[in-house]
Amino acid sequence: MVAKSMEELVSLCKRRGFIFQSSDIYGGVKGLYDFGPMGVELKNNLKQSWWKSMIYERDDIEGIDASILSSPQIFKQSGHEETFTDPLVDCRSCKSRWRSDQLINDTCPNCKSKDLTEPRPFNLMFKTAIGPVDDGSSFAYLRPETCQQIFINFKNILDSTSKSVPFGIAQIGKAFRNEITPRNFIFRVREFEQMELEFFVKPSEDLEWHKYWIEKRFNWWIEQGIKKEQLRQHNVDKKELSHYSKETVDIMYNFPHGEEELEGIANRTDFDLGSHTKNQKEFSINSNVLENSNSTTKLGVKNLDDKKPYIPYVIEPSAGVERGVLALLNEAFREEKIDNDNSRIVLSFKPHLSPIKAAVIPLKKNNENIVNMSKAIKNKLQKMALGRVMLENSGNIGKNYRRHDEIGTPICITVDFESLESNSVTIRDRDTMEQKRVNVEELEDYYKNYFFN
Ligand code: GAP
Repeated sequence: MVAKSMEELVSLCKRRGFIFQSSDIYGGVKGLYDFGPMGVELKNNLKQSWWKSMIYERDDIEGIDASILSSPQIFKQSGHEETFTDPLVDCRSCKSRWRSDQLINDTCPNCKSKDLTEPRPFNLMFKTAIGPVDDGSSFAYLRPETCQQIFINFKNILDSTSKSVPFGIAQIGKAFRNEITPRNFIFRVREFEQMELEFFVKPSEDLEWHKYWIEKRFNWWIEQGIKKEQLRQHNVDKKELSHYSKETVDIMYNFPHGEEELEGIANRTDFDLGSHTKNQKEFSINSNVLENSNSTTKLGVKNLDDKKPYIPYVIEPSAGVERGVLALLNEAFREEKIDNDNSRIVLSFKPHLSPIKAAVIPLKKNNENIVNMSKAIKNKLQKMALGRVMLENSGNIGKNYRRHDEIGTPICITVDFESLESNSVTIRDRDTMEQKRVNVEELEDYYKNYFFN
């Protein structure tokens, strides 16, 4: 089961502290969102899971964390200054602005007028001034994708690690796009995070590595708890390809507003390193790159067979963190009847993604012995470093269970009067609602097994 509508998710996200409209008390800013106490944990857990699968569980990928503010040279050479645009039209009647490719029957969605300007390209990159003088001579772009800094750092990574082709560089970080029509909650926003891998391969091996990464990424989303039937691989039409891509396969997900792209896996050929390298003519670059007379560094490697230098091809799986969070929330959402009079909402996240791993609940919030025992259990489990453990010393037990069902806490541990006598606690399972008593001495093993099995 998934959410019935986007509204249902938006409402839960606000009620339980996952996601808020940004600058809300001043009327909000379109396309910007803030992640609350539960949202930040969910987002961090998703990013950590990606990082683990890309870096810690492999030996052929290194991570970086590069600057967001970027030299305009990068985006001149990458083609973004020229081509990273959406077609924009103005409505002459109500003065609103729209993406012309998203209009139905060339009609203004706001006032239904057909009196629209001709489409003109609108560059999606945000600019800011560097230094104290804002005279336009010294500016930076806020990066619109995280990968460019990976290409720029290619030689630094090669020189400072023991990697050789095939190998990858991964990064998670913010990207900014001045979207004309941000929409569908956190699906299309102006500030978001990307999880990007640039995997460098020999030109002759691009097709097999592309296939490898499509399968790998598709299966990873299933491991995060997304049902296979909710996902689809879509071959992007040649006409729709980004300027750098030879072939792209999108992983599509059934979002509450319809099926759309969750992640793209592109074969970027030698476009990127070829665009940014010094002495382009020394390499036989296959893609159509802008001449580069400013780069100070050669970005080729030596072919170990014939000893000739070449520019590696790039396979790029690029996923949006916000779209991942939205898909996970939708996928985990379930409303179910408990009995004839009561129902509950549950977010049944996989335990590694749950914002709170366990809630420790003193049955009597004013009983010092019960509260102290609860605190000791919380501290013991927190030290195991499997994620956030919460002491929930508020409300009645029913309300606490409901809150933790709605934020997806896999287990609630209740400390009651019997606990003081028998050194045991009640453990309630989120999904089955079954309760069992476990001795405190066995709690750490129980908890560890829960998360590792
Ligand atoms: N480096 C390649 C690249 O940026 P993209 O298809 O433009 O490719 C990759 O973006 C991913 O970033 C998308 O699949 C999506 O998940 C996410 N993304 C792109 N634009 C977004 C936006 N405005 N809001 C939220 N996520 C976005």
